[in-house]
Parts: sequence; structure tokens; C-alpha cells
Amino acid sequence: MIASEGKGRLLGKVAFISGIGRGIGRTAAQLFAAEGATVFGCDVDVTTAEETVSLVRDAGGTITCLAPVDLGQSEGARAWIDAGIAEHGRLDILYNNAGSARFGPIEAVTDEDWRFTLRNELDLVMWTTRAAWPHLAARGGSAVVNVGSISAIRGHVLMGQSAHSATKGALVALTVQHAAEGSPHRIRVNAVSPGPIETPALRGLIGDDAVEVPIPLGRPGRPEDVVRAALFLTSDDAEWITGVNLVVDGGFSVIQGAQTVAVAAR
Ligand SMILES: NC(=O)c1ccc[n+]([C@@H]2O[C@H](COP(=O)([O-])OP(=O)(O)OC[C@H]3O[C@@H](n4cnc5c(N)ncnc54)[C@H](O)[C@@H]3O)[C@@H](O)[C@H]2O)c1
Repeated sequence: MIASEGKGRLLGKVAFISGIGRGIGRTAAQLFAAEGATVFGCDVDVTTAEETVSLVRDAGGTITCLAPVDLGQSEGARAWIDAGIAEHGRLDILYNNAGSARFGPIEAVTDEDWRFTLRNELDLVMWTTRAAWPHLAARGGSAVVNVGSISAIRGHVLMGQSAHSATKGALVALTVQHAAEGSPHRIRVNAVSPGPIETPALRGLIGDDAVEVPIPLGRPGRPEDVVRAALFLTSDDAEWITGVNLVVDGGFSVIQGAQTVAVAAR
């Protein structure tokens, strides 16, 4: 925990966080609740979502969640937002964390892989934000954070990621447009773009063995690195910041010549 953590920076805020079942989303539920937010989460996986709810409550946080819900269907996204509004009457923060992608070299990408990734990384953000929009506008002074990736700005020679790069690039663009449309309503919309973060999703990508990655700041990314950035962007500390894409990658995307560090799944 860093010095400013646990000081109630989100006291009085209702934060909707998608994909709380594992990885960065679980840490988001924990840290947002630790800062005083009332968290309303969701996940397509009931078991892991319930585990997160227990972890947050055991630490004294306030959280409820809807699971299973599939945000890739617009009805699912609307059901999640409607359920949270029915319970809390408002929403101050929307953290569009949930996502799932399929990777592979260009020639091996099937139509289904492509559509799966667009549905589960891009559609779900649009459906969720669209459903939340009137409530965010009614609140005034509300905040959205989308999760991009360095894949939006940097290609990879060895890892085929056409669909993932396309969706994350689109999310950075969507962030700017939503920031524009949100500004008359004082809805701030920003993005965080992580580099390689040690999560279960990364295990699916790299397998059980660690990979060597040139990360200038000398260690792999942790979920809390991303969540702290999202927390800042959605807190009142960032009340004059909208439309930015905050890259959280230990310098990976902008500094050449760094020594490699071993990155593995948690
Ligand atoms: N881990 C990394 O290295 C990394 C890097 C860049 C960006 N990101 C982004 O960060 C976010 C979180 O990544 P993570 O590594 O924690 O992933 P993860 O797979 O560990 O967790 C994602 C969670 O979202 C849920 N989810 C997926 N699709 C859903 C849907 N349609 N409806 C409801 N819930 C759904 C999953 O069940 C899971 O609990 C994603 O948007 C991902 O693209 C991660």
C-alpha cells in the first residue's frame, strides 16, 4: 500500500466496475472499496465474482455484484447498469475493465476469433457506457475509465494480435469521442493503457513459463499499478482531466535498450 492509499479518496462515490472476478478487476474492486467507494461489480463468472465480493467484505469494504452477466450482449450490459441503479440510485464512476481476446498470427485468425475479440473487448464497452450514459449525465461530475493497452500503440513481431490491437486502438479513440460528448454534462472519460501485467489472462497468453520483456523500470507490471492510475483518473484529484490515455507500462513503450525482466502470470 502506498502512503495516500486508504485515505477515503472515493468516499461517497458509487463505482461500477466490470470484470471483478480476477486479475486487474479484482484488485480494482479491492482498492476502490479501500478508498471508500461503494462498489457494484459484475462478471460473466459467478464463482470468481463471489470470491472477490468475499475478499472485499472481509477487508471491510462495501460491495455487491451481478453475476453471471455477459456484457458482450447489449441486454446484459443494460441489465447490469439497471440493476446497479435500482440498488444505488446513481453512479459516479464507471470502470470498463472487463475484456477477453483471442490472439494469433494474421493468417490463422478466423472470422469467429475476430468477432469474439471485437465483441468482448470493444462492443461491451460501448454497450455498457451507452446504458450508463443518462445516469452519468444526471449525476454531473461523473467519470468513466476505459482500459486500452500498449497494443493500441505498439505492434509485436512475435505475438499475433490483430483483433486485440484493433479493439484497444478503437477504445483509445472511443475515449476521446466520449470525452467530447461527455464534456457538456461534466462526464470525464479517460483511458489507462497497461503494458504486460502479471494476471491470469497473461498466463493464457504466455503459458506457464516466464518470458523476458525489456521493461525499463526493472520489474513486471502488477494489477495495482493499473488500478492506482484508474483510481486517480476517476477521483476528484483529476477533475480537470478528460480525454487522456495514461500509459502504465514501466516505460516499455517509449524507452529502448532496457534490460529484460522475467514476466510470469500470478
Ligand atoms: N494483463 C495484461 O497484461 C493487460 C495488458 C493490457 C490490457 N489489459 C486489459 O486489462 C483488462 C483486465 O485484464 P486482466 O488481465 O485482468 O484480464 P482477466 O482475463 O484476468 O480478467 C478479465 C475479467 O473480465 C471478465 N469478463 C470477460 N469478458 C466478459 C464479459 N463479456 N462480460 C462480463 N465479464 C467479462 C472475465 O470473466 C474476468 O474475470 C482487460 O480489458 C485487458 O484487455 C490487460
